[in-house]
Amino acid sequence: MATTERLACDVKDPGLASKGKTRIEWAEQWMPVLRLIRKRFEKERPLEGVRISACLHVTTETANLAITLRDGGAKVVVCASNPLSTQDDVAASLVQDYHIPTFAIKGEDHDTYYSHILAALEHNPQVTMDDGADLVTTILTKQAALIPGIIGGTEETTTGVIRLRSMAKDGVLKFPVVAINDADTKHLLDNRYGTGQSTLDGIIRATNLLIAGLHVVVAGYGWCGRGVAMRARGLGADVIVTEVSPTRALEAVMDGFRVMPMADAAKIGDIFITLTGDKAVLREEHFKSMKSGAVIANSGHFNVEIDIPALEGLSLGKRQTRDSVEEYTLRDGRRVYLLGEGRLINLAAAEGHPAAVMDMSFANQSLSVEYIVKNGKTLEHKVHPVPAEIDQTVARLKLESMGMGIDTLTQEQETYLNSWSEGT
Ligand SMILES: NC(=O)c1ccc[n+]([C@@H]2O[C@H](COP(=O)([O-])OP(=O)(O)OC[C@H]3O[C@@H](n4cnc5c(N)ncnc54)[C@H](O)[C@@H]3O)[C@@H](O)[C@H]2O)c1
Repeated sequence: MATTERLACDVKDPGLASKGKTRIEWAEQWMPVLRLIRKRFEKERPLEGVRISACLHVTTETANLAITLRDGGAKVVVCASNPLSTQDDVAASLVQDYHIPTFAIKGEDHDTYYSHILAALEHNPQVTMDDGADLVTTILTKQAALIPGIIGGTEETTTGVIRLRSMAKDGVLKFPVVAINDADTKHLLDNRYGTGQSTLDGIIRATNLLIAGLHVVVAGYGWCGRGVAMRARGLGADVIVTEVSPTRALEAVMDGFRVMPMADAAKIGDIFITLTGDKAVLREEHFKSMKSGAVIANSGHFNVEIDIPALEGLSLGKRQTRDSVEEYTLRDGRRVYLLGEGRLINLAAAEGHPAAVMDMSFANQSLSVEYIVKNGKTLEHKVHPVPAEIDQTVARLKLESMGMGIDTLTQEQETYLNSWSEGT
């Protein structure tokens, strides 16, 4: 407890707190499942005294998660999981109104970003929460002394899960981590519907472009790509999908999208959106064939999906034309517009996922933290799925909050479905 109280905080301006508080309360309205969990946590205090360091996007929804964990008895410290995604008023309110130590400033540079992660680790966490695995990576590479005290962690996103699985494969992951991303109630709603809507929201806020009639190229037809393609079509775009997986590419074709290699799509696209978790998906050869005026954005986790050094190498210069829009002038006079410095555009230029979507992820997060606290000591040092009961509880609570019911199997149906001798 004393550890938390001694900690300093680093936010942009504590004076922004009252605006942050109102917005945190607005988000809370749209997070009915987390509210139900918070109510139980307040009563049962399942996290009493547990020290949690949470490296997450510092948004109104994350604030509600941190408050829920705190109300469950935990001592929570928050730092940013992306230098551009912090909402400074929320960071201020977390500190001023909710007394949750927070280290996050929108636009912080690389060194400040990592100094904030180290500051959050001074909390000596028993549970880690990550969105992209930067906290766990820092522990394993720079703060190994903390490892014996850690019961386990959670990871929010695809890219983090991939990094953690490769750590586990190499035997360097030294505590269990639950992959929130892999819960059905997470990726179905968050990656597909959340990223789908908020990525286009970010692009529209940054550019004010009319999407109808444009050729929108979506790189990657995974959970996120499907959502973005679906919503871009809904706004009237001609959507082209690029993929490296034949099955995903086939699915895109069957869903009614044009599929082609990026080398061909590069010549056609008006807007390019990468959502692959991969690197250099848009690179020199593609920039060279793009139309003048092409807009490029990334909504995958890291800003490596667009090869920005290659774009800079091809350019005579760049200038900021609008908030979150940089104009690169290529040597032949063509102009290419990079949004949000190639970072997650839904967070860099919009507000990330709507609260109703984060409600699902963060319900899984809070119940998984409770699970780790109860079971972490007995779990293998690898990446674990969210237990099916948690996933189903979250889906059930969400349906209940929407006033919808479902059927239950009759005894006869259960017997039929569970027996190989039935149905003959
Ligand atoms: N913006 C957000 O708010 C948000 C939310 C969730 C996840 N993410 C991130 O988005 C990325 C994608 O997540 P996902 O859940 O859709 O992953 P996914 O694994 O379901 O899909 C990724 C797809 O990209 C394809 N791909 C890989 N390399 C490619 C390439 N060079 N060209 C074309 N396609 C390629 C893969 O075949 C796969 O189908 C990850 O980095 C994830 O962390 C972002």
